[in-house]
Amino acid sequence: SAHMDSIGLVATHIDEKGFVRVGALGGVGAKEVAYTPVRFQNGTCGLICVKGDADLDKVKVSDLFIDIGAANREEAEKLVQVGDALVYDTPVRQAAGRVISPYLDDRIACLVLLLAMGRLEETENDLYFVFSTQEEVGCRGAKTAAWAINPDYGIAVDVTGADDEPGSKHQASSLCGKGAAVKVMDRSVICPPELVERLMGLAAEKGIPAQRDVLQMGGTDAGPMQATRSGVYAGGISIPCRYTHTPTEMVDLGDVEACAQLTATFSM
Ligand code: CO
Ligand code: ZN
Repeated sequence: SAHMDSIGLVATHIDEKGFVRVGALGGVGAKEVAYTPVRFQNGTCGLICVKGDADLDKVKVSDLFIDIGAANREEAEKLVQVGDALVYDTPVRQAAGRVISPYLDDRIACLVLLLAMGRLEETENDLYFVFSTQEEVGCRGAKTAAWAINPDYGIAVDVTGADDEPGSKHQASSLCGKGAAVKVMDRSVICPPELVERLMGLAAEKGIPAQRDVLQMGGTDAGPMQATRSGVYAGGISIPCRYTHTPTEMVDLGDVEACAQLTATFSM
């Protein structure tokens, strides 16, 4: 399973000056999104602003203003309605062997599933590739998918925190560029040790770079997969990601390839 949804914001109010006020869809850090260009589904563009005298360390999502260029409420209401969702409108860039982009969480894992499918050879296993929804607001899509499929094994493919960001406090263990991160645990799951060893063993056997991943914040689709029906062997293959949930996330393309290889190898 890899999730197709991403974090975002939703319009909750339009004020008399034409600024749009918003609520969070998932884990949006208000401080991290100040002055980010955004886009509504209908194409309306805007900019996330905060009050000039705001203390960025104390800013909450409810303190953000979306400036869509409108002169007043009447003009703004022609462009945006309460309930409209908006996303970061930041560019995709390649920097050395890494990519900088919004929403690598978890679009990059959707790519990993596609790459893995492309590599698959004959297998006697019944395979299901799930592109799940609403992960960022509580792993809801994986919950129903796991119940419907009732698998023997479930693997969540997602990004994981990187421990090599500036000033990292070791809440994550994986390093960017060191290969596929094999999930030991996150806040939603403790993976069966046999499954962790199986994935690490397969990686070693096939020469796929891999590392053990302990993440002390956040959850993944592995959580609801493990707890479905009478329980499922659930694990995770993750792409280490720097600056997760900011408008500019970063992953290493070698890690993406390693994750695709390990996902395909495990499936066969
Ligand atoms: Co996320
Ligand atoms: Zn994710």
